[in-house]
Formats: sequence, structure tokens, C-alpha cells
Amino acid sequence: MRAAFAMRGALFGEIFPDDLRVRLAELVDVPGTVLSGLRGTLGDVEVLITGWGCPRVDAAVLDGAPRLRAIVHAAGSVKGHLTPEVFERGIVVSSAADANAAPVADYTMSMLVLAAKSVPRRIHAYATGGWPAGPYPGVPNAGEAAGLGGATVGVIGASRIGRLVIERLTSYRVTPLLTDPYVNAHQARELGCELVELDNLCRRANLVTIHAPALPETYQILDKRRLGLLPDGATLINTARGTLVDTDALTRECASGRLNAILDVTDPEPLPAGHPLLAAPGVWVTPHISGARGRELRALGEYAVGEIERFITGQPLRGQVRSADLLRIA
Ligand SMILES: NC(=O)c1ccc[n+]([C@@H]2O[C@H](COP(=O)([O-])OP(=O)(O)OC[C@H]3O[C@@H](n4cnc5c(N)ncnc54)[C@H](O)[C@@H]3O)[C@@H](O)[C@H]2O)c1
Repeated sequence: MRAAFAMRGALFGEIFPDDLRVRLAELVDVPGTVLSGLRGTLGDVEVLITGWGCPRVDAAVLDGAPRLRAIVHAAGSVKGHLTPEVFERGIVVSSAADANAAPVADYTMSMLVLAAKSVPRRIHAYATGGWPAGPYPGVPNAGEAAGLGGATVGVIGASRIGRLVIERLTSYRVTPLLTDPYVNAHQARELGCELVELDNLCRRANLVTIHAPALPETYQILDKRRLGLLPDGATLINTARGTLVDTDALTRECASGRLNAILDVTDPEPLPAGHPLLAAPGVWVTPHISGARGRELRALGEYAVGEIERFITGQPLRGQVRSADLLRIA
């Protein structure tokens, strides 16, 4: 079975290091190079292995790929490069979003632990005002390290990443508040959460972490009104997408010192140089790094190789993406 790679060349060697390519070559006939263009290059290809930077797979590409049976994406969302025609033509699609979820959950857990001790705000106060003589403004349990154990944590979205975070929170004796329109109260209890409406979550949670996909209905779900419901001193963690939050409203809340935020994603992204969020006390902004990077990339390649093995041996795929799923997934 003939396969081809299409992704940004710079990451190829990290996603598919030599030993993984050897494993892959035992399963399919793979070339040593990565395609940069897809038109007219897929004539005999049956399995297309894609990654970040893959060109769009549209009707014109598919017209030149009559034997294509599967597209295995060694990264997260397929929405950026796969068009509806892929699904309409019955091509099997798989994504390694499960493998990309683990590093985002790790990042989130680290930040929840630090946010629960108001670490960003305490670092800022120490650097600008010296050793603490008294309580810091805007820090809950002033002067005391609150800690994550037993904290009220709100999780927006029991997505792949959201579920990993929820699972990890149980070891901190946290019963998260969960908002997710695709989960019922019984399922939430099975996950170890209390299912609540988003307004209720915002009123109660001192730590809120966003894990829902960017969809029309999630655009600025944390708008000015809902941000205003968050308790004084609460921290918002966003590793999902910047468009889920009203950036201007969040900026005002953080600049006033009422709220804190840890943002791996923003809208716009990147923030313009000198944006007030970048310097607000109690705010950390990281440049979209929580997904797989460096050593973590290999897991994406391993997942993709596993999927190809399952595909050619007729087993169910673990990361199969169906067109109906696209309405609710990242
Ligand atoms: N920062 C990064 O590097 C990085 C890396 C990977 C993913 N992400 C982002 O993280 C988020 C989660 O990714 P994932 O792969 O876990 O998502 P996913 O595709 O597993 O999410 C789908 C689930 O989200 C939930 N959901 C859908 N609509 C919702 C809504 N309106 N409110 C609450 N929950 C809703 C449902 O449970 C649905 O099944 C996405 O926004 C994704 O783009 C960011």
C-alpha cells in the first residue's frame, strides 16, 4: 500500500524519527520525502499522512487521488486542511488529537497548581514591590498559600483535554464544576464532576479552565457579563482558543487587578506588542506552547503509525473523525 507524507518539513523528523519511519515502512510503502504540494502528486497514494502545515485537501486534489482511502493526521484538528469532499468521498479520516491532548492537560494542571497559590500575582508583587509586608491586593486568602486541594475549579468542556484535566483533578480532592452541552448530569457524575450552567460555574469557581472547541456557539462564551460573574481574585486559564473569551473585557478585569489569567491562546494571536495583558499583574501569557512540542511530538507520530496499522489490519481506528463530529469537536 502506497503512502505519502504532507506536512511542514521542519517538524517531520521530530514527529517521525528514524525508528518510527522504519516501523512505518514495515506497514506501507513510504517515500523518504515530504510533499509540499498535493495537486497531481497523489496518483497512486492510498494513505496520506498529514501534519501541521499540510495544504488543503480539496476536490481538485482528490480528483488527482483516485486510490486515496485514508488520511491519517499526525496532529490535532483536521478542520484546517480537510474539506467536506474528503468525507463525502468516503475517505477514512483519523486524527492524533488524543495524543496532542496529554501535553495540554499537563500544562493546564501545572498552571492550576500555580494559580491556586496565586504564583503569577505573587511573582509580580515581589518583583515590583519587594518582599511581602502584608496581603497582596487581589490575592484570595491574602498572605496565605491557598493550594489546589479542595479548590472550586470550573471546567468548560469535557473534551479530550478537559477529561484528562478532570481525571487529574481527582487526585487533588477537587470535584470540578463542569459546563458541557454534550454531557448529562449522570455522565458528569461518572466523570467525577458536578454539571452546572456556565453562569453558575462563573459565579462559583475561583479557578476556571477552558477546554471547549472554537465553534460559532462558543465565540466569546466568556463575555464581559460572564467575566463579571467570576469571584474577585479568580484565575482564568485558557489553553483552548482565544476566540472563546472577550479579550477586551478580560484585559479590563485583569488591568484593574480583579481577575488573573493564564493564557496560552489569545484573540488576536499573537497579541500586539505592548498589549496591556502582557504586563498586567497576575497575568501570564505563553505563545501557544501547550500542545505537543519538541520531545512530545513523537507521540503524534506513534499514534499515526498505530492508526495505519489498525487501518490496514481492518481494526477500528482510535482517532477516527466523522463528518458529523465536526460540529462539536476542535
Ligand atoms: N493550546 C494548544 O496548543 C492546543 C492544543 C490542542 C488543542 N487545543 C484546543 O483545546 C480545546 C480542546 O481540544 P480537544 O481536542 O480536547 O477538543 P475536542 O475535540 O475533544 O472537544 C470536543 C468536545 O468539546 C465539548 N464541547 C463542545 N461544545 C461545547 C460547548 N459549547 N461548551 C462546552 N463544551 C463543549 C464536547 O464535549 C465535545 O465532545 C480546543 O479548543 C482545541 O482547539 C489547544
